[in-house]
Amino acid sequence: MNTIDAKKFYNEVMPNKQGDDYEVARWHNTPIASVGYEQTNAAIRKYLPSTLQPASILEIGPGAGTWTKVLVEKYPETLMTLLDISREMLDRARTALGDDRIMYIESAFDDFTSNEQFELIFSSRMLEYMEDKETFAAKVADLLTSGGSAVLTTKLPHYTRLRLQGKRVSNFHTGQIAPVRLGQLLEKNGLKVQTIAAVTVNVPVFKSAKLNRLAGKLIGRLPLNPVTNTCVESYLIVATKP
Ligand SMILES: C[S@@+](CC[C@H](N)C(=O)[O-])C[C@H]1O[C@@H](n2cnc3c(N)ncnc32)[C@H](O)[C@@H]1O
Repeated sequence: MNTIDAKKFYNEVMPNKQGDDYEVARWHNTPIASVGYEQTNAAIRKYLPSTLQPASILEIGPGAGTWTKVLVEKYPETLMTLLDISREMLDRARTALGDDRIMYIESAFDDFTSNEQFELIFSSRMLEYMEDKETFAAKVADLLTSGGSAVLTTKLPHYTRLRLQGKRVSNFHTGQIAPVRLGQLLEKNGLKVQTIAAVTVNVPVFKSAKLNRLAGKLIGRLPLNPVTNTCVESYLIVATKP
C-alpha cells in the first residue's frame, strides 16, 4: 500500500464503506470486533507509561480518535499533536475531541518534519499502511525526546498461513511487519525495546468472540512465540530513547 492509496482510501472510500461513525464500524460492528476493541483498550492502558506525564504527545494515524480519548483521559494536561494523512479522519477526530490542547496536522508521516520532539509517540494500526518501515523507525527515534517512549500497535503478518489456506492477501494489507523485525529497526535507530506483547487475539477457524476473549487472557500473559503467534492478530511494542 502506498501513501497515495491510503490517503484516497481514508478520504474517499472509507466514508462510503463505513459510514459516519468510523469507530463503531471499525471496532463494534461484530462481537469479534468488539472483543478486539476490549483487548486493544486493555493493552494500551496497560502499556502506556504511567510514571510519565508527558509534556507533549504525537499520535500518528489517529483515525477518528478512538485511542486518543484514552490518551486524553490518562494525560489530561498534555499537549497533543495528531498527525494523519487523511483530512476526513482528522475532521472526525476533531469532532470527537475538540481543539483544546490538541493540534491537528494533515500529512503523511513519511513527509513529516518537526523542530519539536515529543515525550510520547503513540500509534495504533497505522504502520501497516506505511510502506517504508525503515523511515518510520528512524522518524520515531528522531522525534522522541531523550527519556521518551514510543507505544506502537500494528498487525502481525500471517501471509504464509493465508497463502497455505488459499486465501488472497489484499493489496491493502501487505505492509505488515513481524515484531522482531520492527524491534530491530527501532533498535538500529538507537531505541531500546522494552516490551513486545499480544494485543488482539483471533483463534483461527472458530470465529468465536468468546474464544478470542479467553485465548487473549492466556496469550496476553505469555511472550510472543511461533505457537502464540498463530492466534495473535496484532501486537504492541514499547521502545524508549535512552
Ligand atoms: C486503520 S486506521 C487506524 C485508526 C486508529 N488509530 C485506530 O486504531 O482505530 C489507519 C489510520 O492511519 C492513517 N494513515 C495511513 N497511512 C498514513 C501515513 N503514511 N501517514 C499518516 N497517517 C496515515 C489513515 O488515514 C487512518 O486514519
